[in-house]
Amino acid sequence: MNKQEQILSEYKEFCNAEGNQHIASEYAILKLQEIIEKFGTENVLEVGLGIGAIAGSLLSTNSYLEYSGTEHNKFCLDALKTNLGADYRKLGVFSKLVKVPQRKFDLIIIDGKDPDLEKIQQLVMDRGIIVIEGDRIPQQELLRKYFPGHKYVHSISNKKNASYSPFPLGHWQGGLKIIFVNPDSKQLLWWGKEKMKTKLKYHFRK
Ligand SMILES: C[S@@+](CC[C@H](N)C(=O)[O-])C[C@H]1O[C@@H](n2cnc3c(N)ncnc32)[C@H](O)[C@@H]1O
Repeated sequence: MNKQEQILSEYKEFCNAEGNQHIASEYAILKLQEIIEKFGTENVLEVGLGIGAIAGSLLSTNSYLEYSGTEHNKFCLDALKTNLGADYRKLGVFSKLVKVPQRKFDLIIIDGKDPDLEKIQQLVMDRGIIVIEGDRIPQQELLRKYFPGHKYVHSISNKKNASYSPFPLGHWQGGLKIIFVNPDSKQLLWWGKEKMKTKLKYHFRK
């Protein structure tokens, strides 16, 4: 099984898990894996761990990752323990951003709300990447304001929801918003290609 097949097989478990209605899209999970491989991500912070679809899928395939996240919902906190199994001990869980001990992360995933989003400025590496799952327009606007030199791309899928997903059939899989807070040349090149891909997908997807 290659990494993509491995991550997809783990993701399918979350598609069948209790409380699956808010999990990340398949496209988001696979794109995050691409980002991790491309940019050598070593540590991740996820705002809104939910029932663990992103964390569980990424940790199952990249066991070396240092992974922390925030969650406050009791149902989700219990589900994380069940759904991640042995990988749960690799996870640092905090109730909200202000409780995350000061350190820097290569990749920050935003998939939940937090009243202290401005703390992301202290938590992201100089060449860090912020990925927003779903629409989340207010958070997107704030984050883009915090990093004046950033580059932004909305990466969209040209695939529809799979029959095993908890999402409506016939709808496009949800996309991702990617912010390079202070891009280096490798990130700039990838960002440019991703912008082009999004343009083509918008043009050709039917
Ligand atoms: C979009 S969800 C996060 C999903 C998560 N990143 C995942 O992939 O599983 C955002 C927030 O919704 C809440 N939430 C998610 N699933 C829930 C459920 N089944 N019941 C109640 N609250 C839920 C949690 O507080 C979570 O942080």
